[in-house]
Amino acid sequence: MADSDRHPFLQGLSNHRGAPPTVVVIFGASGDLTARKLIPAVYNLACDNLLPADFFLVGYGRTPMPHDAFRKLAADAIREFSRRELDDAEWERVARHTSYVAGGYDDPEAFGRLATHIDDLEKQLGRGMQALFYVSTPPSVFAPIVRGLGASGLAARHANDPLHSKVIIEKPFGRDLASAEALNQTVQSVFSERQVYRIDHYLGKETVQDLLVQRFANAIFEPLWNRNFIRSVQITVAEEVGVGTRGGYYEQAGALRDMIQNHTMQLVALTAMEPPVSLEAEAIRDEKVKLLRAIQPLELGPGGDVARAQYATGMIGGRPVPGYLEEHGIAADSKTETYAAIRLSINNWRWQGVPFYLRSGKRMARRVSEIAINFKRPPGTLFNDDDGRFDLAANTLSFQIQPDEGMSLVLNTKIPGLETRTQPVKMNFRYATTFGSNTPEAYERLVLDAMIGDGTLFIRGDEALASWRLYTPVLEAWAKAGREGMGTYAAGSWGPKCADEMLAAQGDAWRQP
Ligand code: BG6
Repeated sequence: MADSDRHPFLQGLSNHRGAPPTVVVIFGASGDLTARKLIPAVYNLACDNLLPADFFLVGYGRTPMPHDAFRKLAADAIREFSRRELDDAEWERVARHTSYVAGGYDDPEAFGRLATHIDDLEKQLGRGMQALFYVSTPPSVFAPIVRGLGASGLAARHANDPLHSKVIIEKPFGRDLASAEALNQTVQSVFSERQVYRIDHYLGKETVQDLLVQRFANAIFEPLWNRNFIRSVQITVAEEVGVGTRGGYYEQAGALRDMIQNHTMQLVALTAMEPPVSLEAEAIRDEKVKLLRAIQPLELGPGGDVARAQYATGMIGGRPVPGYLEEHGIAADSKTETYAAIRLSINNWRWQGVPFYLRSGKRMARRVSEIAINFKRPPGTLFNDDDGRFDLAANTLSFQIQPDEGMSLVLNTKIPGLETRTQPVKMNFRYATTFGSNTPEAYERLVLDAMIGDGTLFIRGDEALASWRLYTPVLEAWAKAGREGMGTYAAGSWGPKCADEMLAAQGDAWRQP
């Protein structure tokens, strides 16, 4: 088979899902996210023949380096982090269209050089390209980069045609309502909303995308998906890792900003939103915003809707690990929470009176993200046990977002035998069993969608603000309280007592995922 038949990437044969000729520029080219996620995503898209036929990659960063050094850095990143092994021939096709521009993030002259570089690539190609600017830097330079893209004219390249520039902005999108509003204003003074792709990588996960399919492509769920049948919803995003080497960042973030405000709230929105009128990006995002706006302000006093804690020393995988306050780069009197639990009340027709419990933490018993829909108990009259006590389990439908992706349904079943006794059993579906396990990573899908111009799996400006509006009073209250009210939990456990008490007050308990 001829080489060009086997792999049409950069051979002018492929134009998957209509992605036009594209140059992706990564700001923060020598950063951690670039190595771990972005370069491997580009490489795997290339291997799957999903990149546009004419594709260029440009790294941009402060450290001066020749093009070859950036290509080597990228190849090393693929070796270390890609889901596929590095294949030299495959990589060579991308590498020969990969280059590097050094410059500051607040440096008009350097942005001018970047613009000239992109013009040169276009001349080399002999046709226009869309530029996709991926802002993957520390948040302090998001706004200067966006302004630089505006002032240099890069944001307006090919305005009014399908090759109009786009920008992808990494999280965190602001650190509270005021800063997110300010960032939105800067972004919207340079780009129109249609050019902006705010990342929440949870939306790129296969299982998260499948939530909408499960809810709206199956007739059996929707009639039950409301306050008449559902008692509560629990969303857990638990991690086994601690802060590792990210102490500097994490001290400024904490679990509420790092996980709850964005990833966990996206899971809430997709679980609870009304059916959209279509699968168009705006239709879905409109429903998510409506849902976020229906959430009641949180009660912050004792016995209220929020709990926070830090991990103490404990055991992970049979090995002792230090507590948060002993970790590298963490203040001995740190006020940063590594765990947060929230009780949400959604005040709309569908959900009024159904608590949504959310929790996320580092150094928990194991890495697991799941959404559990707890149905109301069936009437117990027929299957009481000998003492007349009610002993049927409540049905629970759970979506395992990761790892071991799947869905489970707990049903009451008759134990075979001459007596009529019941036992809860679990029906399990696992994606890996049915579809195999070589699923694309979230960033592959998101980079591809941005190239194609599909914003469905990205956060709209008003969506980010709606979530910050809910959580900013919590952040302010916690900042004011300092360490007062901060719980602790042993590393390797399922979280602090204060979070257990929050549910116990409602007659509920956290499930063991
Ligand atoms: C990131 C957070 O957004 O998500 C990290 O900043 C966290 O602290 C990570 O570890 C979790 O992502 P995933 O895909 O591993 O669940």
